[in-house]
Amino acid sequence: MATPATSDRTHGQSTGEPAKAAPPVCEFRPGLEGVPATQSAISFVDGKNGILEYRGMAIEELAAHSTFLETTFLLIWGCLPTHEELAEFEHDIRYHRRIKFRIRDMMKCFPDSGHPMDALQASAAALGLFYSRRALPNPAYIRQAAIRLLAKIPTMVAAFQSVRKGNDPIQPRDDLGYAANFLYMLNEKEPDPLAARVFDTCLILHAEHTINASTFSAMVTASTMTDPYAVVASAVGTLAGPLHGGANEEVIDMLEAIGSVENVEPYIDRCIAEKQKIMGFGHRVYKVKDPRATVLQSLAEQLFDKLGRDRYYDLALEVERVVSDRLGHKGIYPNVDFYSGLVYRRLGIPTDLFTPVFAIARVSGWLAHWREQLATNRIFRPTQIYTGEHHVPYESIEQRQSKASFDTF
Ligand code: CMC
Repeated sequence: MATPATSDRTHGQSTGEPAKAAPPVCEFRPGLEGVPATQSAISFVDGKNGILEYRGMAIEELAAHSTFLETTFLLIWGCLPTHEELAEFEHDIRYHRRIKFRIRDMMKCFPDSGHPMDALQASAAALGLFYSRRALPNPAYIRQAAIRLLAKIPTMVAAFQSVRKGNDPIQPRDDLGYAANFLYMLNEKEPDPLAARVFDTCLILHAEHTINASTFSAMVTASTMTDPYAVVASAVGTLAGPLHGGANEEVIDMLEAIGSVENVEPYIDRCIAEKQKIMGFGHRVYKVKDPRATVLQSLAEQLFDKLGRDRYYDLALEVERVVSDRLGHKGIYPNVDFYSGLVYRRLGIPTDLFTPVFAIARVSGWLAHWREQLATNRIFRPTQIYTGEHHVPYESIEQRQSKASFDTF
């Protein structure tokens, strides 16, 4: 007969050695909520006061004065680069933007209807086939791998966009900056300088955010000392979910479904009554408006002034007003994903590339955590509380009666 699990069963024989002190018993926190899993000097969030800092610098200041590559250098190597360091970093990234024809050909075998995040995850993992993992603890290898990933991820995102339309990928242009080159590869047209600057700022805003789900995923993978391409591929898979990076696409779907400003109140009230999450709102850490949403909203307005207003902007403002009115007391306000979609639409980025664009930016945060972790690595190996049975006898197939349930979790 089966017996229920007890919390501290010992299956091993005594070895006669003095017993090691048992680790302290920890309270079970689903999703590890509030449990510190690492020490990090990369970024800081104060969710009550809406503060986000990278290496101690306010996100608003970086958004106003820095560039994505300069911010990336800051995140990975801990300080702003000098003139020479930045020039060399930018040069190396330009030099490595191209991708192998085998990766382009591999993408041609992907289904056109496949999601670009799945294509990106597969392509990021495929990079590991080309670049050796043996030199992992070597700082030169770490720099080289970071450069390759930062350089090639945007090319791979743009390449899949071309390939799924039946076209050959557009080659990167060395005379264009990081953001402008990506927009060029996407639209085969040099972007307006304001559009390039706004896109670069969006990348800064999405570059890093402490130990969120995809960063944790990256760190767990990295802790096994696997190669950085596997680290990034696992993080891309985690970012893809609608509770994480995938929400920015769903915001646009929601605005489309609402359709007009008059429909906002009934739509939101119905969602609340049916306990449906409103996409682009709420955050595990921020209980006020996400500071990145504030900067993104101002970027959206700058773009709309120059290139024309997005037809969903007034609707989005009304959604923010109604949700804040109904759910503000629970600390539910716009997060980074709420306005980013409207900015990307104005930049000509298709909706299903919003999350890959998030990944282009977040590669810098994942790499910063990867490098930080290598210095004091310990493999992630949490524990579990077993809730199953013991001593279950094996039944022959003739004796069994169906107990499997396929319509519940
Ligand atoms: N719409 C309506 N109610 C919400 C929402 C929302 N977007 N978010 C949280 N709530 C409510 C929730 O129903 C619950 O209410 P109650 O206590 O009455 O049952 C309460 O707030 C706490 O919700 P929770 O799901 O336990 O909170 P969480 O900290 O786990 O949620 C979140 C964080 C981001 C998963 C959640 O807010 C959410 O699902 N938001 C919508 C998806 C989204 O916009 N995701 C992007 C997150 S920001 C970018 C990123 O991290 O990648």
